[in-house]
Amino acid sequence: MIQITAPAKINLGLEVVRRRDDGYHDINTLFAAIDLCDEIRLQLRDDREITCTVDGDERLKSEAIENNLCVKAVRKASEHLGEERGLDIYLRKQIPTGAGLGGGSSDAAAVLKGALSLWDRDIDPTTLLQIALSLGSDVPFFLQGGVAHGSSRGEILQPVEIELPYHCLVVNPGIHIPTPWAYREVKRTVERGESDLVAHIWEGLHDPLSMRRHLVNDFEPPVFAAYPEIGEIKERLYHHGALFALMSGSGSTLFGLFETRERADKAQEGFGEYWSRVARFA
Ligand code: C5P
Repeated sequence: MIQITAPAKINLGLEVVRRRDDGYHDINTLFAAIDLCDEIRLQLRDDREITCTVDGDERLKSEAIENNLCVKAVRKASEHLGEERGLDIYLRKQIPTGAGLGGGSSDAAAVLKGALSLWDRDIDPTTLLQIALSLGSDVPFFLQGGVAHGSSRGEILQPVEIELPYHCLVVNPGIHIPTPWAYREVKRTVERGESDLVAHIWEGLHDPLSMRRHLVNDFEPPVFAAYPEIGEIKERLYHHGALFALMSGSGSTLFGLFETRERADKAQEGFGEYWSRVARFA
């Protein structure tokens, strides 16, 4: 039996650059893992069965097991390897789902790595990346974690060796934003220019307010237009002293970066009606 954690991510800038012929979009983003984690236990089975027990999320609990991204991840790896031994997956959810925090993608990546370790098997990095990407655009990032620049669908990754000193307040209003809808609403008919996100995050270390000028999330305008309540949370994060605030992924979660834990905790008191957590970069 092994026990692993699967961290959430936030996007410190997310630009939807162009629409591609395959229906996806090229993005320019900076992923950062935070220490808000789902907990996963994996147990080897003697037969080929794959089971998944979910705790802490009613919607995921009632979902058919075939649709669970962790189960899909194990199936794909097991088929590729011709592995005979199945797995029991126990998943304790703490990351809100469908929230722009990559929870499901992170669980899938963690289970992929965990299964290989339990089976004592390896998959070459290129194939593993293909399997990860076939599960979802954010899954490749979670195979490595940390802070990374992401391009293409998010699978071309460059690690960024930066220590982010901020305390991160994550606020989720519980509104479910379907990702395909959000991409459509960006209406990227003409290619957009790309910012140097890595340079901007480094600049932010000595001039935190510069992040407000340089880092954007292209999903904010359509999401805030459809759900003004989400845009108001961003304003409130600034009102409560955030150095920088942004929506993560296609929403609906927002995060604020604070100088100290005390300031983040104090700001959290202003969001009593919502799910919220204070986290550090992982
Ligand atoms: O890869 P993932 O399953 O997260 O994508 C869900 C949907 O979001 C895709 O079917 C596509 O409509 C949209 N998407 C996109 N460009 C990306 C990622 C996702 O258009 N880079």
